[in-house]
Amino acid sequence: MSSSQPTVVISATLPADLRAKVAAACRIIDVPPGASLSEAVPEADRALVEGVLCTLKTSIGKDQLAALPKLRVVSNYAVGFDNISVPMASEHKVLVCNTPGVLDRAVADLTIGLLICLARGMVAGDAFVRSGAWTKGAAPLTMDIAGKTLGLLGMGRIGTLVARTAKAFDMKVVYHNRRRDQAAEAEGLATYVERDALFSQSDVVSVHIPLSPETRGAVGKAELDMMKPTAYLINTARGPVVDEAALIAHLQQGKIAGAGLDVMEKEPLPADSPLCSLPNVVLQAHVGSGTVETRRAMMDLAVANLLDAMAGTQPKAMVNP
Ligand code: DGY
Repeated sequence: MSSSQPTVVISATLPADLRAKVAAACRIIDVPPGASLSEAVPEADRALVEGVLCTLKTSIGKDQLAALPKLRVVSNYAVGFDNISVPMASEHKVLVCNTPGVLDRAVADLTIGLLICLARGMVAGDAFVRSGAWTKGAAPLTMDIAGKTLGLLGMGRIGTLVARTAKAFDMKVVYHNRRRDQAAEAEGLATYVERDALFSQSDVVSVHIPLSPETRGAVGKAELDMMKPTAYLINTARGPVVDEAALIAHLQQGKIAGAGLDVMEKEPLPADSPLCSLPNVVLQAHVGSGTVETRRAMMDLAVANLLDAMAGTQPKAMVNP
């Protein structure tokens, strides 16, 4: 380590080759993923830290920015950045970087997987066979996907990929987004509808919006009330975008047919959550991007963003340039 090397905090598990790459250019302080930076970074080092590479578990707000006065970049190992106060980071002239693009396919695949799982009752079907119930009678019939309407709340990169995949299943795709997606419409991928129509017309509503103060609770009782009793809700975006208590009530009362959730209000989801005992819910452990290949691509990008910023060159993926 040379004394001219910048000091960076790594609060994530890096593959050995990427760690060596960072170590060749920086002095590394390791902090366990999710630990509070203002506490976990030794006091003597706080004034030296210029970069942080972290996961969604690390909060970056007022305290952390105040504790690390030399900080220049936070490289988030995620496309989402709801763990970071971006306005405060900008105020402190701290660059926020993320990993867009490289995880779209994996998240879209999981969304479609949940859709098929719900429509075809695959989790219940698996239990039906394992329990021996099949020897006593035929399994319940399920729902066709072809011809059904998929409503996408959010039409960014992931929403667009979900639309494209759903078209291959002969679904009708409608979307609602802050901005119209002229390209997707021109290609015949999806039809724009007003927000209420999205909830009332869709057989499956899938959420693809980021979490922000404006989107917290965006799918609440009013939106769930508009859904058909035969419709399913899928959330592979962020848990707090959906009002979980309202969702649980709707599922318990059979006001909607079911839900597929990769994300929840509180993660990890406690095993005593009512969601865990609802038979019409399929749960995943926030693994939309959780494939070996995708996580590696995310880590490559997160490390490149950190090292570019440390070298004074423009990182590829900046949230607040
Ligand atoms: C992201 O990158 O924001 C994902 O939610 C992580 O899996």
